[in-house]
Amino acid sequence: MELARAIASRQSINRVRPDPVPDGVIEEVLESAVHAPNHKITEPWLFHVFTGKGRGEFARARAETARLQAEEEGEGEEMAAGRISRERKKAFRAPVVITVVSRAGRDEVETRENYAACSAAVQNMLLTAHSLGLGAIWRTGPVAYHEHMRAFFGLEEGDGIVAYLYLGYPDMGERPRRREAVAEKTVWHRG
Ligand SMILES: Cc1cc2nc3c(=O)[nH]c(=O)nc-3n(C[C@H](O)[C@H](O)[C@H](O)COP(=O)(O)O)c2cc1C
Repeated sequence: MELARAIASRQSINRVRPDPVPDGVIEEVLESAVHAPNHKITEPWLFHVFTGKGRGEFARARAETARLQAEEEGEGEEMAAGRISRERKKAFRAPVVITVVSRAGRDEVETRENYAACSAAVQNMLLTAHSLGLGAIWRTGPVAYHEHMRAFFGLEEGDGIVAYLYLGYPDMGERPRRREAVAEKTVWHRG
């Protein structure tokens, strides 16, 4: 797919079919990530790929996080049970879930730049997925960043969870894109 068209036509796909995605296709998506720019070639990314029954591990971590959050918020038992069950199910919304982790840098600036590099990597992945006929969505949220999820992925101080990418074959059509004109966001400084 031509690049400009891929950029303009990519959109978040939150409904995908349960059909498995071949490992080779997932590897193409991963390969595109590591070509992202990264300052001082720190290559700060780390990927966790969950497919098939492997998503069960991710589901358990999400469910346990939801349980802890319910406890932290003093939620009643019934409400908590619903929340835990919903979180568990979310792990199975797509046949592939890829977690993108950014590693800590040697100082605060490098840590920030590592995170930026990982965001560029995620965009590469979204575009590659799109060009391969896959649907993808970048998801985060309070569960995603919770201390329990960090522990599940073995994160240390300065490491960050950048994205949970849900991938699969699209089960929805295109939506109109809503974006302000770039001219509204641009200040030109001409000679
Ligand atoms: C850092 C980040 C976090 C996101 N987290 C979520 C999320 O938790 N749930 C969700 O539905 N979409 C999430 N998105 C996707 C955005 O909602 C989506 O990109 C936006 O609606 C624009 O739509 P488009 O991707 O189709 O252009 C996230 C995007 C980014 C960049």
